[in-house]
Amino acid sequence: MAKSILQIRDEAVAAIEAASDPDALTSVSVSYLGRKGPISQFLRNISQLPPQERPQAGQAANAVKKELAQLIDQAMADLAGSADTATEAVDISAPGRPIAMGTLHPITLVMREMCDIFVRMGFAIAEGPEIESDYYNFEALNFPKEHPARDMQDTFFVSSDIVLRTHTSPLQVRVMEKQEPPVRVIAPGRVFRCDSDITHTPMFHQVEGLMVDKNVSFGDLKGILETFVHQMFDDQTDLRFRPSFFPFTEPSAEVDIRCVMCRGVGCRICSKTGWLEILGSGMVHPAVLENVNYDTDRYTGFAFGMGVERIAMLKYGIDDLRRFFENDIRFTTQFH
Ligand code: DAH
Repeated sequence: MAKSILQIRDEAVAAIEAASDPDALTSVSVSYLGRKGPISQFLRNISQLPPQERPQAGQAANAVKKELAQLIDQAMADLAGSADTATEAVDISAPGRPIAMGTLHPITLVMREMCDIFVRMGFAIAEGPEIESDYYNFEALNFPKEHPARDMQDTFFVSSDIVLRTHTSPLQVRVMEKQEPPVRVIAPGRVFRCDSDITHTPMFHQVEGLMVDKNVSFGDLKGILETFVHQMFDDQTDLRFRPSFFPFTEPSAEVDIRCVMCRGVGCRICSKTGWLEILGSGMVHPAVLENVNYDTDRYTGFAFGMGVERIAMLKYGIDDLRRFFENDIRFTTQFH
């Protein structure tokens, strides 16, 4: 006797559920829904049924055909989904993915190294605002209003008496206002000047130094700076002091080191002079000490300020200042 349409359906559903891969499902589909399959056979045999049963049998067969087609589609989609999950599964035996490590920016590295050297000599680290008042940036440092020395600093003005600090020297005043001698501080930080060409960027870094106590002399300044230079470069690196002018020091000196590239023979980096300027310095001007109410009969001090980019370029042999601020990680990750 021919199978009932419901029997065919139940067998087909069981076969779909048993199919464990797409190929098996395709053959289930062909064998049940294909032209030689049992449903087609059933439909062909309808003509042998009594006429009043034929429409119902035809509808039932078509409904089963539609249902099976849907079940097969669904099962196919489920198999594809589980195949994706399989490839995503974690393979705990696979080697780990390398994690790209960041590096410190060369300026940060050099600034830290500079600070470390001074910290070892007993200096404390001080920090202050990058947006500064005219008073701390100029006035208290003995730059009178309208003094031509202010012109040299290419100031960015925020308002008539608020500026972006043009140097780290304001920290001298801020530190001394807060404490009595002895003072021994260094102040690293960003400074700003409206100047931009191959050797100037509008933002750069300085490290300021200040020491005030009884009997501090120019000899102490020389000793401290020589120790710094010998540790930063090497102990063959000579220094020379040249007279100079800064409103907040008297006497003032600029300090050169023997060219680290040519050892003093003369090259492109030192413009054939054999020397490289690295900082400004001097004995703190009594007017500055008076501005912070220090007793100038008892105390003297020295100060210095140097450019971090300059030191970094010499230390690493970098010939273009702008490299520091282009943010090209092929450059910035070379320093450790
Ligand atoms: N502030 C000066 C500048 O940026 C550098 C300087 C010179 C700092 C002499 C000092 C100093 O502390 O004593 O040009």
